[in-house]
Amino acid sequence: MTHKEIKSGIWSVGAIDWDRMLFDELIPLPDGTSYNSYLIMGDGKNALIDTVDPTKTQDLIDNLEKIGLPIHYVICNHAEQDHSGSINTILELFPDSMVVTNPRCKDLLMELHLIPENRFKTVEDGETLSLGNKTLEFIYTPWVHWPETMVTYLQEENILFSCDFFGSHLASSDLYVQDRCKVYSAAKRYYAEIMMPFRTLIKGNMEKILPYQVDLIAPSHGPIHQDPEFIINAYHEWISDKTENTVVIPYVSMHGSTRIMVDYLVDLLIEKGIGVRPFNLSRTDVGELAEALVDATTIIIASPTVLIGPHPVVVSATYLANVLKPKLKFASVIGSYGWGGTMVDQITNMLTNLKIDLLEPVIIKGLPTNEDIEKLDQLANEIEEKHSEILYKDV
Ligand code: FEO
Repeated sequence: MTHKEIKSGIWSVGAIDWDRMLFDELIPLPDGTSYNSYLIMGDGKNALIDTVDPTKTQDLIDNLEKIGLPIHYVICNHAEQDHSGSINTILELFPDSMVVTNPRCKDLLMELHLIPENRFKTVEDGETLSLGNKTLEFIYTPWVHWPETMVTYLQEENILFSCDFFGSHLASSDLYVQDRCKVYSAAKRYYAEIMMPFRTLIKGNMEKILPYQVDLIAPSHGPIHQDPEFIINAYHEWISDKTENTVVIPYVSMHGSTRIMVDYLVDLLIEKGIGVRPFNLSRTDVGELAEALVDATTIIIASPTVLIGPHPVVVSATYLANVLKPKLKFASVIGSYGWGGTMVDQITNMLTNLKIDLLEPVIIKGLPTNEDIEKLDQLANEIEEKHSEILYKDV
């Protein structure tokens, strides 16, 4: 990636990672990602806001060399390695530079990168740093998605450098958001994967940011938002308590019984005008599942019995749904067994983080009988009733 000037004396100097397919060795990145870093020139000092993943350090160095400015401050909004992993190299290249961050982030950086304590300048919430004709203000925004996360506001230009907050895993040659649908989905997926568990805390952080005049949001993944309202409104939707008239059905089937139940239930829900999204877990991208959970009202977990419990891929998806803490209101379990088991208990015992009402599970022996089908009818009717109550309440 080459550097690009955003405004006079402000450059994007980060790296595009077209080939990265997986983050945290868990979440697929269907569109790659970028590690955005920003250089700000003041008439007294210059600051670099965030660095890049250690695999892309050379890209950052090449971009900085083309501009040729000394760096006095390295602002670290977030200690995770995809943004902090090149700090040591920058400190070596600019021996008089200081890392500017909050005390919690400083501790993490000392542990993660062994950066010596004398290279830090710590800042309090709301503190400013003058670069001469430009002023950086630091706003603590904890838990988006680590405890030390903060954002940096450039007062004279009304630019919010938000790091992961408002970002999207999207490799693109576009500096700014062009395809809103694509960015909306990528940002929602990213929110779902790392920020959704901290929804309540993010509400507080949004309140903190709201009073600022923001003309540009420059995240550290994905394109820059020239229309901040677009992504701020999207976040307001996602963090709200409101859910949509949708059901998510993560499932797997070994010999077809569970699949027959899922197909039947999906058709019933569609007939009732309820949005439904089945995910065949033997081939599902868990990022898509997470994204679907952001505003779903109900989850129906569907599994055959393996030995005496749920299928292992169902265990994994249930665990993920529980730790991501979506705002689901209802859940149930459907599935099949050959000779016995405790699948329902095992699955429901994994959903302790969710504030859900459990709808009557439907567990069948072998292929579904007419009686089993009636139970699925009852489940669909109950979902319809419950959703109507919720939607009515939200109007
Ligand atoms: Fe992009 Fe939390 O790191």
